[in-house]
Amino acid sequence: MAVLPVFDMVLFGGTGDLVTRKLLPALYRRYAAGQVSPESRIVGVARTALSRAEYLNQAESACREFLGPEFDAPHWTAFSGLLGYVKADASVEADYAAFSTLLKGRDDIIRVFFFSTASNLFSVICRNLAKAAVVTPLSRVVLEKPLGHDTESADLINTEVGAVFTEKQIYRIDHYLGKEAVQNLMALRFGNALFEPLWRRGLIKHVQITVAEELGVERRGHFYDKTGALRDMVQNHLLQLLCIMAMEPPASSDPDAVRDEKLKVLRALRPLRDRDVLTKTVRGQYKAGAVRGAPVPGYLEEADIAPDSSTETFAALKVEIDTWRWAGVPFYLRTGKRLQDRLTELVITFDEVPHPIFEKPPTARTANELVIRLQPDESITLTILAKNPGEGMSLKPVSLALDLGETFKTRSLDAYERLLMDTVKGNLTLFMRRDELDAAWAWIDPIRAGWDKYDERPKIYIAGSWGPSASSALIGRDGFEWHDEL
Ligand code: BG6
Repeated sequence: MAVLPVFDMVLFGGTGDLVTRKLLPALYRRYAAGQVSPESRIVGVARTALSRAEYLNQAESACREFLGPEFDAPHWTAFSGLLGYVKADASVEADYAAFSTLLKGRDDIIRVFFFSTASNLFSVICRNLAKAAVVTPLSRVVLEKPLGHDTESADLINTEVGAVFTEKQIYRIDHYLGKEAVQNLMALRFGNALFEPLWRRGLIKHVQITVAEELGVERRGHFYDKTGALRDMVQNHLLQLLCIMAMEPPASSDPDAVRDEKLKVLRALRPLRDRDVLTKTVRGQYKAGAVRGAPVPGYLEEADIAPDSSTETFAALKVEIDTWRWAGVPFYLRTGKRLQDRLTELVITFDEVPHPIFEKPPTARTANELVIRLQPDESITLTILAKNPGEGMSLKPVSLALDLGETFKTRSLDAYERLLMDTVKGNLTLFMRRDELDAAWAWIDPIRAGWDKYDERPKIYIAGSWGPSASSALIGRDGFEWHDEL
């Protein structure tokens, strides 16, 4: 059996939502699966004065809540032996003395610093870690998204982090890349010869990428109101999905081979400048409505939201990729909070037959469609036209459907389980490189500038719907419909 690497993991933002709801449960699961060496240590860092026992209590109740029946008391007792807590203010240099003591004598093992704080603290944390002389050659740093709020702020943070860590030590996280289903998209494209010849203009008519959430802003009003859907979701998750869908086959699965190809897609995105935002983008904001029959408040009534906020909770965009493969194929991207369903889906619509010899079926859905569903369940469905049984030759769309959960009958790793272990193993494939991030912001910034220039205020939609009607119009102008509206 391979020897498990021993590591120290320091979690800044140790009492925050991400650490307690996602990172600690993910680490617990890897521990329970026998993948975390018992000599490893996991240390939460936050400003709150807490004893170790108090921190462990908080961690335990969060893990109990988020792991449900998977929580196992004996495993927890063993796992909690790895946990520690340090009270430190990220911006106070003197507080970092605690790390020198804590990490003393462990310079020869892997050290992961996970920054789960607002990104405007990343630079000061790096400077203070460097002053405390705790950054070793085996150290790496994980940066949570969104990194900055535009090109300039991201550049500054990257430069300051880069002054302390080399690019190969920097893991910029986009948890969508850690999802099993996203990896399956890579497997579908690059593990099968079948699709590659079809994956291009002339055969694909258009592509839709939807990341829809039922949830609202929850307890993150402060953050969300300054961020909005474009920066929170499009700049990272949706563009990354687009990259994996559209990239050229990489020469190998080597991290840089994959990241080079994604970067080429980002650099080939046609800029949406000036008035383009009026015809190729839609901003929306939810008002009170009902999700799954339960009444929910509007965005402006949520906690910590400015009463006159014009932050968007929904965005839809028409994206074009200026390459030989994709010229003329529109990609429609859509994401929003408080929509009708939780759904992450890619829909690839192929061209119609060039010369129909059978009677056209009485449905709008006559083209072949490949639907890759990433959430809530993982499935791949191909619709084809088949003959309706009986006399005559009438056709009807039917599905070839693969339910990946049913097929493999095993629990997929949560995105953070995979990504945290990748940071320990030193595998950068699923993390964004600095140039990718720069290219993503360079494409996003003019959209925001256009919205500001034309005072493009969000269109209101009812919570529990599929977003503002302008989103249907955006795709409808090209003669298409969103998949769920067909
Ligand atoms: C996060 C966003 O990155 O992704 C959240 O900040 C969003 O606003 C979340 O809710 C969605 O992730 P998932 O894995 O639940 O689809």
